Formats: sequence, C-alpha cells, structure tokens
Amino acid sequence: MAGFRTLDDVNVAGKTVLVRVDLNVPMKDGRITDDLRISRILPTLHELSRKGAKVVVLSHFGRPDGKAVPEMSLKPVAAALATALGSSIPFAEDCVGETASAAIAKLKAGGVVLLENTRFHPGEEKNDPALAKQMAALGDIYVNDAFSCAHRAHVSTEALAHLLPAYAGRNMEVELKHLEAALDKPEKPVAAVIGGAKVSTKLELLGNLLGKVDKIIIGGGMANTFLFAQGREVGKSLCEKNLADTARDILRDAVTRGCAIILPDDVVVAREFRQGAPCKVVPAERVPADTMILDIGPVAAARLGTIIADCKTLVWNGPLGAFETPPFDAGTVTVARTAAALTASGRLLSVAGGGDTVAALRHAGVAEEFSYVSTAGGAFLEWLEGKELPGVAALAAPTAVAAQ
Ligand code: 3PG
Ligand code: MG
Repeated sequence: MAGFRTLDDVNVAGKTVLVRVDLNVPMKDGRITDDLRISRILPTLHELSRKGAKVVVLSHFGRPDGKAVPEMSLKPVAAALATALGSSIPFAEDCVGETASAAIAKLKAGGVVLLENTRFHPGEEKNDPALAKQMAALGDIYVNDAFSCAHRAHVSTEALAHLLPAYAGRNMEVELKHLEAALDKPEKPVAAVIGGAKVSTKLELLGNLLGKVDKIIIGGGMANTFLFAQGREVGKSLCEKNLADTARDILRDAVTRGCAIILPDDVVVAREFRQGAPCKVVPAERVPADTMILDIGPVAAARLGTIIADCKTLVWNGPLGAFETPPFDAGTVTVARTAAALTASGRLLSVAGGGDTVAALRHAGVAEEFSYVSTAGGAFLEWLEGKELPGVAALAAPTAVAAQ
C-alpha cells in the first residue's frame, strides 16, 4: 500500500513487536456483546506469532481519564482474546515500566501478552513524549492495527510510530484499502447513504462528500431538518430548526457541485415513539402537525433501491429511521437488503461504518454481505469528513520507516 509499510516489509522473527489494537469492545455485565473488533485483529496477531515475534498487545478501553479505574481494566478482555486466539495470554497490570517488561521477558517467541489499558496513564491522551519513550523501550517494532483509533493522536496510536520502525497491521491495511476504493478512487457513480439523528454532527462530512460523490441519500432525523428547511411541516419530529439556513446552503452547494441530494418522498409517522406504536405512511409534504417522522416510507425505500442500483459504489453511514424500535426499522432494513443483494450480484462495492451503522446492518441481517464493514466509529466519520487521521499519517512519516 502506498505511503507506509505493512507486515510484508518486515522480518519480525525474534523481535518484540508492540501491536496497537482496539479492544474497546462493547461490554454488558462483564461480557463482550460484540466481538467484531477482536475477530478483525486475529490475522495480525496470528501472523506475528507464527513468524516468531514476541507479541505485545496494547489497547485502550473506555475513557478512564488518565486514572486506573478498575471497571475499565482490560483484564476481562484478555480471556476473550485468548479464547479467540486459541492460546493462553498472560496479562500485565501496567502498560509500561517493570510490570510490563517482566511480563514481556517471560514470553517465548510466538507468545502473546496483553498489557493494561494505555489510558490509565495521563500521558497517553496527551501524546506525552516521556510516556512514549517508556512504552517504546518495551519493544523493537511497532505495528498499528487500530484504524478505529487512528483519529486520536495518542502515545500508543501516534507517538510510537515516530520512535520505532512502524508498520500497518493487516486489519489497518484492509480498512484503508476499502476506504480508498470507496471514496478516494471509486468506480463511479458513487452514492452515500447518510442517516442518523442530527445534521449538526455531520456538517463537515456532508461538505466533504458534496465534492466527492454523485448522490447523497439523507435519512434518519437529519432528513427532518432538510425537509423543514424546504418549508415542510415536520410536526413533533426530531429537527434542528436552528440549522435550516445551513441545510439550505448545503442544498444550494449540492446543485452547484453537481451532487444530487435525495430526501425521502414519503415517511412513516406516529403520535408517540415506542415499539409497535400505531403509525401511518404519508407523503413527506403532508406530515400531520401532531405526529413525528420515525422512518422513511416504502415509496422512498423503493426509489432509493433504484438509485443505488444505478451506482457502482456505495458508502453507508447511519440508519434511515429509528431502526432499534420496530416497526420504524423497515426503511433501513429494506434499503440495506437491496444494497446487500446488489453487492452479492457483483454490481456494487458497498462500504459501511460509523456509530450505529454496524448495528443497523446486523439488524437487517446483512452485515456480512456488504463488501466491507468498518469497525470504526469516530475514525470512520473523520475519514468521511476528509480529515487526515494522525494514526495513519504517523505510519507514513519518514521517521516511521527507520532501517530494519
Ligand atoms: C471507538 O470506540 O470509537 C474507539 O475505540 C476510540 O475510542 P474513543 O472515542 O474513546 O477515543
Ligand atoms: Mg469514539
């Protein structure tokens, strides 16, 4: 891959390799509820181990704010990682200093150790050079396999790449390859589905996409703000009325830049927001004042399917309706299944990520059928915004490729 080196470019046998992964996995009552981030890092860990490295796994978990918060220990994750890897994994209760180096010293070639939450040290998030030096002293080589943390300029995601010979892990490599195929060098036409609750969190993203894609399909609560900006009644719907001018600017810019913005033709409305609430489908210009919009309607879902079928590439971020609360999942499910079927027939490259997106695609039963589903939340959004991600930039920096 252009710009930085991968595991193909390094001999790791007998070396101690510090691997930054993202074990910030969702947990409930001490159990991991979604292990996608674990399964995605296994290729890198297996490869390093098979090639005879001592593998030292670094990650953050939660936001402990520079303190050792017991509930944010990575220890419970070590067991899950060991099961997934199929080998035992010792755990060191600190990510630097004597505790960490003693655990590493005990490793045999091919062994894997997990170190405690990097964010237990205040220097991690400050990208503190002193902490970076301490961490770098633990190993010979740095591998970053955490695209989902690449929007953070922290010691374990950024500084280490300047202190040790640095390489992208397999997960990072695959993420970047797909993101590049979807937005940097896509097959045209390109459509973007942008959903979710608020326009305010996606302004930069929309601004960047206007110059890159041919069609932007807007759904979710965001669409209400655009409908309102066009002078439509949105009743009790979630709507950022203060952003009406901004929404109108975006619609105008889209025309100038030749990007079509597609809003729902019809919508599902209800008087209250709860599972199974009585609801009806109305045209988007006839929303009763005492109702709220909770999903796109069937006419819109069918039209979006046709629009996507005319495209070669699809980027998807955010649900089209309140998918967690049926029946307001129907629009998201229908359009996601259409995209999955087009992908399966080889007619579409589909890349999805960010926030609720994976959950929405799982709910539709199609997460496995998209060309690629990113494990990243914030990093995926920043990438859609066209920002440079510090973790990726550091891998490409000249200092990162010191002689091996
Ligand atoms: C995530 O879950 O988005 C990543 O692990 C980054 O976590 P953060 O938002 O706390 O930096
Ligand atoms: Mg985040």
